[in-house]
Amino acid sequence: MNFFPTIQRSVKAGVIDLAWGQPDPSLLPVDEMRRAGEIALDEFGWEMLDYGAEAGAGPLLDFLRARIERTEGRTLAPDQIITTAGISDALDQICTFRTQPGDTVLIEAPTYHLAVKILRDHLLDIVPIPTDEEGLRVNDLQAILAELKHAGKHPKFLYTIPTFHNPTGVSLSEGRRRGLIKVAAQENLLLVEDDVYRELAYDEPAPPSLWSLAPDGVVLRMGSFAKSFAPGVRLGFLTGSKEFLSRMTGGGLRDSGGGVNHFTAMLLGAACRAGLYDSQIEKLRAAYRERRDVLAETVRAELPLAEFIKPGGGFFIWLYFPDNVDTQVLRAYAPEHGVDFVHGARFFVEGGGTNALRLAFSLYPPHELQEATKRLRRALDAAR
Ligand SMILES: Cc1ncc(COP(=O)(O)O)c(C=O)c1O
Repeated sequence: MNFFPTIQRSVKAGVIDLAWGQPDPSLLPVDEMRRAGEIALDEFGWEMLDYGAEAGAGPLLDFLRARIERTEGRTLAPDQIITTAGISDALDQICTFRTQPGDTVLIEAPTYHLAVKILRDHLLDIVPIPTDEEGLRVNDLQAILAELKHAGKHPKFLYTIPTFHNPTGVSLSEGRRRGLIKVAAQENLLLVEDDVYRELAYDEPAPPSLWSLAPDGVVLRMGSFAKSFAPGVRLGFLTGSKEFLSRMTGGGLRDSGGGVNHFTAMLLGAACRAGLYDSQIEKLRAAYRERRDVLAETVRAELPLAEFIKPGGGFFIWLYFPDNVDTQVLRAYAPEHGVDFVHGARFFVEGGGTNALRLAFSLYPPHELQEATKRLRRALDAAR
C-alpha cells in the first residue's frame, strides 16, 4: 500500500492543466541517466559516495565553467562559480547570507510567484517594480530607488528574470540590460538574476545574461538544470563574485554537509561530459518550439480577444484579455470544462493582472494544447 506520493504534480482526472510549468515526463532523460550512472560509477567509484567538495562536484563545475566561457564569452575564475540545489535553493541561500527579517528587496511586477514565497519565508519587505513589453522599466526602478533612499531604505537586492520571463515570456531588451546594470552599479544594488530558461531559446540564441555584461560584484546569476535537463536532479549553479560565493561555501550548510547533492552532481557531470546534456537541450528545444507554435496559433484562432507576445523561449504564454474579463472568475469555470491555468493576479504582490492568465506549453503534446485552448474558449463563453 502506497501512502506517499513520488512526484510533486497532481492533476485532476479529465483536466488538461496548463498551470504546471513542468516538463513532459516523456521528454525526461531516463535512458541517458542510466548510461551516465554506469559511466560515472566506473570512472569515479567511491568518490561519488563520499562527502563532496564544498563548492560542488569537480567534474560538473569543470564542465559548466568551460561551457559558460564558450557560450557566454566571459572568463570565469574557479572561485567565481559554485553548484546549488537549483534556483529555489540558491535564492533561499542568498537570502540567508544577504538579508535580515524586515530588509527591503525588489522584484518585478509580475514575477515568479514561488520566488516571492521564498522571499516571504525570510520575512522580507517586498517592493515591486513595473514591467512592460521590453521587461523591467529601468526608469521606474530609479524613481523607486530614490523614494526608498528618501525613506532611509537600501534594498538588499533586486530579484529579476530578464530572459524568457515567468510568467510573461518577455526578455529584457539589450538597451535596458545595459541601463539596468549601470543603475545597479551606481546605486550599489545587487542584481539576483534568475536565468532558469536560458537554454530553452527557440528562435535565436538567448540574449546575454546580465552577469556576462556586468562588472564583477554587480550580479549573482542563478542557473538551473531543472528546465534544461530534469528537475529531479535538484542541481543548478551560481556565478558571481568570489567574496560572496566564498561566504556560501564557508557557511555552516556546506561545511557540515559538503557540496549539495554530491552523488547526483557526479552523475550529472559524467552525463554532461558524455554529451548527454547538449543532446537533451536540442531535444527539448525542438519539442517545446513546436508546442509554443501550436499553442500560439490555436490561441490566435480560438481566443481572438486575447493579446499576447509570442515568447522567444521558456515555458509560458501570457494572455491579456479586455479589462472586463476577470481571470480568477474564469478559473472557477475552467475545471468543469476540463482545463486549468494560473490566473494573472497570482504573479503580483500589490494588485494587478486581474485580466491576465498564464498558460504553460511544456507539459502536454501539441494536440492536447489545441484541445485545452478550445476548452478555455468554452469556459470563457460560459463565464461571460
Ligand atoms: C523563473 C523560475 N525560477 C525558478 C524556478 C525553479 O527552479 P529550480 O527548479 O531550479 O529550483 C522556476 C520553475 O518554475 C521558474 O519558473
